Amino acid sequence: MELDRSDDEILSGEYGETRRVMLEILIALGKIYDAERLIPVSSVQVSGASYKTIGDAGLEWLEGLDARAVVPAFLNPIGMPREQWSEMGIDATFAEKQEEILNAYQRLGIRLTCTCTPYYHQIVQYGDHLAWSESSAVAYANSVIGARTNREGGPSALASALIGKTPEYGLHIMKNRLPDLIITLDDPAAAKDWGPAEYGALGYVAGKEVGNRVPFFRGLRPNRDRLKALGAAMAATGAVALFHVEDITPEARVPFFKTSFPVDEKETIEIAVSDVNAVFSEIEVNAVAVGCPHLSEDELRTVADLLSGKKVKKPFFVFVSEEMMNEHRDLITMIDRSGAHVYADTCMVVSPATDTLGSVMTNSGKAFSYLPAMCGVVPRLGTIEDCVRVATE
Ligand code: F3S
Repeated sequence: MELDRSDDEILSGEYGETRRVMLEILIALGKIYDAERLIPVSSVQVSGASYKTIGDAGLEWLEGLDARAVVPAFLNPIGMPREQWSEMGIDATFAEKQEEILNAYQRLGIRLTCTCTPYYHQIVQYGDHLAWSESSAVAYANSVIGARTNREGGPSALASALIGKTPEYGLHIMKNRLPDLIITLDDPAAAKDWGPAEYGALGYVAGKEVGNRVPFFRGLRPNRDRLKALGAAMAATGAVALFHVEDITPEARVPFFKTSFPVDEKETIEIAVSDVNAVFSEIEVNAVAVGCPHLSEDELRTVADLLSGKKVKKPFFVFVSEEMMNEHRDLITMIDRSGAHVYADTCMVVSPATDTLGSVMTNSGKAFSYLPAMCGVVPRLGTIEDCVRVATE
């Protein structure tokens, strides 16, 4: 692998043992995937931030590191809101450990913005190379923005934050970003009025078919929030890190893709609208949770408007980034008045608070997929309108 002079200096230990080990991680990864060189990244998102997922072993490893991030780096959601953890039912021992993890990341120069939607809080542009790790953020960055990132593991993302580079392989290379197959619906007109929940259900079904390939959707016109829901769910039931939507997503519109991708020669999978509808159910639930991925401003406004003048009769959790919460205090107040809880920094999947709820309704195809395995709860998928209705009736 081609290394430059600064890489050699880091490998010689001139910049400390942590940087040397981190560069070794990136080089080892690059060798596995036949990368020819390391390339600079403009942004990093580090997963492995919840004490629920990394435990004491992860905390000990982080505390042993000694270096500072050299590019802007964000954290994935952690296991609790930093402010209202006791209100959410988190015990003090967990909170103490989670604080220690945050302190360790802060010492490494990682920004304590704990979100799976860093793209709302940092300018990320078409063609930027990133090292992001949360699967829905990776799908959004690649597909909706046209930036380039592989799905990094926690250690490799942290290594990129401390070195400022990533091995050039996978989705950093244009030819690997071309679609592998086409996806259509048997009744495209049915999707005309679909919101994020229906796109999440489509992603839930499509991800199982697609696996880790790059799908190209035809006949759909989703906006950004719907693309976010589609990608998050496909990344959960499959391993989709990039998808294209004809005439909508940026790379589906650039000449290189139009001329290099013989659309009509590709395998086509037709998804039945009835299979998408079948993901929705009517089961009784104990609680409702929305904000997977963390809500956009429009989504937060929708939740606030729907809850306006109502009182929730079941626990209703709303997850956002801290920045979104601070920028839209008026909407948070509207939601608070209904009795629902808005929490930043965490989510229904990475927080242990969900594990005791038994059954949870959500409008997210990704959460619908992860809640049983990660939290042991029975999930129900519904639209945001249905979520509010079930919580308030
Ligand atoms: Fe984000 Fe948690 Fe969902 S990290 S994508 S809200 S599972």
